[in-house]
Amino acid sequence: MATAPIGIFDSGYGGLTVFRSIVQQLPQYDYLYLGDNARSPYGPRSFETVYQYTLQCVEWFFRQGCPLVILACNTASAKALRTIQQKDLPQMPDPTRRVLGVIRPTTEVIGRYTKSGKVGILGTRGTVQSDSYPIEIGKFWPGLQVYQQACPMWVPLVENNEHLGDGADYFVQEYLQALYRQDQDIDTLLLACTHYPLLQSKIAQYARPGSTILGQGEIVAASLADYLQRHPEMEQRLSKTGQRQFFTTDDPAGFDAHASIFYGSPVQSAHVHLD
Ligand code: DGL
Repeated sequence: MATAPIGIFDSGYGGLTVFRSIVQQLPQYDYLYLGDNARSPYGPRSFETVYQYTLQCVEWFFRQGCPLVILACNTASAKALRTIQQKDLPQMPDPTRRVLGVIRPTTEVIGRYTKSGKVGILGTRGTVQSDSYPIEIGKFWPGLQVYQQACPMWVPLVENNEHLGDGADYFVQEYLQALYRQDQDIDTLLLACTHYPLLQSKIAQYARPGSTILGQGEIVAASLADYLQRHPEMEQRLSKTGQRQFFTTDDPAGFDAHASIFYGSPVQSAHVHLD
């Protein structure tokens, strides 16, 4: 019988930190994970490139029978989601399929965590340049002051398994100091890149005492559970046999060796060729 899984997309490994929380909260559904490792990182790439790559991956998920795709990547959510939702989806043969991102669920709740009313967004250059976070937070929490800091060295540190090494200390301090130079009273740090939870212990070490450090996994998983409750027409379409399948656009052996650090348990992937 054909399955109708939920698609989980990232430029590479980072989305596995979100996927991990989603399967913990919603284990009953079938899932396909796709990491576009062959073309990652997305962070430094242009709007047009991130959009084209992301659309290609979304179309792949649709061909596999996914009625719902989650962009578990901030850069793709910032640079591609709106165009896919507003321009591409309505023109597709089945316009009832849905693509959701990670920015809105996070911006909906971020104001609950800050006492000073000052929040810091840590993300890739692409996410920061898009201004998606300040714009979206302004809609839900107009009184908040939002500061952003691009952390371009953090994804390479994590991808090269150096996130627990001394080099990580240097770059964690560097970007946090740059953020705090904008305002000393920032008390909530949002890890607005799905790779950054792996650096959380180091970030906690150099953050102001008493700071709240927010990852996105649990927030996105809770938001998906809420979405499915509010959209029974989508919930009923999804198959529920508890399958998880992993795909990468790069070498599966390399992906599997690294993916478990993000996912928390062993992963066996297959290769996908997109062109
Ligand atoms: N996972 C991406 C994000 O959340 C960052 C990695 C990349 O630059 O491709 O923004």
